[in-house]
Parts: sequence; C-alpha cells; structure tokens
Amino acid sequence: MSNNNGFVLWFTGLSGSGKSTLSRMLEPELRKRGCKVEILDGDEVRENLSKGLGFSKEDRDTNIRRIGYVAKLLARNGVVAMTAAISPYAEVRNQVRAMCNKFVEVYVECSIEELTRRDVKGLYAKALAGEIKNFTGISDPYEAPENPEIKVNSETQSPEESLAVILDYLESNGLIPAAAPAAQA
Ligand code: ADX
Repeated sequence: MSNNNGFVLWFTGLSGSGKSTLSRMLEPELRKRGCKVEILDGDEVRENLSKGLGFSKEDRDTNIRRIGYVAKLLARNGVVAMTAAISPYAEVRNQVRAMCNKFVEVYVECSIEELTRRDVKGLYAKALAGEIKNFTGISDPYEAPENPEIKVNSETQSPEESLAVILDYLESNGLIPAAAPAAQA
C-alpha cells in the first residue's frame, strides 16, 4: 500500500514576500511531527531543474509545471512537498492543483510598498528604475489566488504568527499530526 501522508504545500506570492522563509521555518516543525519534507524553492529550481528559463509568461509557466510535476511525484510517495516560487499565473497554478492528489495553496500577501522598502535582493529598486524588465508586481502581472486554503500576510504578521496559522490549518484538517507535548523538565 502506498503511504498517502504526503501533500503539496504550494506557496505563492511576490518576490521577497516570505515564501522561502516560511517554508524553511516549517521544515523542522513538520519533521518534528514525523513528516518527510522537501522544499522546491524558486531560486534553487532555477539554478537546477529550470536553468536557462527566463521570466516570460511561457518560461514561468514551464517552470511552474516542472515544479508541480516533481511536487506531485514527491507527495504521492508520502513527502510533504513544499514549493516556494512566485507562481504568478492562476491558470497554471490551478492546472498543477488538478494534477495533485492533495494540494494546499498558501498565499503570502505583502504590499509592493513594503517589498520595495525591504528590497532584500535590491531587485525592486532596479525594476522601478526600469533596469529589470517584466518584474512581477512592478512591470509584470501577479494574479493573487482567489480562494487559497491559507492566507498569511508578512506585513501585518510576524513570521512566527504566519507559521502558527499554517500549522493550525494543517493540523485541523488532519494533514499533519499535532506536535507532541514538550517533555517535562
Ligand atoms: S516564477 O514566476 O517562475 O514563479 P521564480 O519564483 O521561479 O518565479 O523566480 C523568482 C525569483 O527570480 C525572484 O525572487 C527574483 O530573485 C528573481 N527574478 C529575476 N528576474 C525576475 C523578474 N523579472 N520577475 C520576478 N522575479 C525575478
């Protein structure tokens, strides 16, 4: 019998919104609960699986289909497959959703004003100056999910608060077991 504890936890949101941070924070929490975990991070996938792809709609859709395909394979083998790519287009996100047995979409919301203020990678300043073309949220579309299973906001919530919201959803929907109580000192 196959192990069907796996599922896809699909983060979507603008660059710098906190997708990678939240997926990395979730990893040890899920392992503590006995889950197998893999993270397919946008930047890492683009260095490996999607090397050579650019940021046209066609290339982004190809990137997302590849991530979705690998996530599906992992999830059906009992892994919690977390993905952290912008995934700006709703249609391809929904195609991937339809391919996967269990798919949980997490929208990490954050305003452009706040992302421009943070500008961790310095890309928003360049995009605003016209030095990077087709930059998501500045000169390229971002289609926010209409009905994500989970919505967090990295502007109004701390990472810990967002993490708690995600864990609570996963626990209360029976996707992961509750954390074991801390051992008594
Ligand atoms: S996606 O659109 O195909 O889902 P992905 O998450 O893989 O995007 O890659 C986004 C990352 O690539 C950003 O976090 C940023 O570091 C970098 N990047 C470079 N150019 C762009 C661009 N034009 N639009 C968005 N991100 C870009």
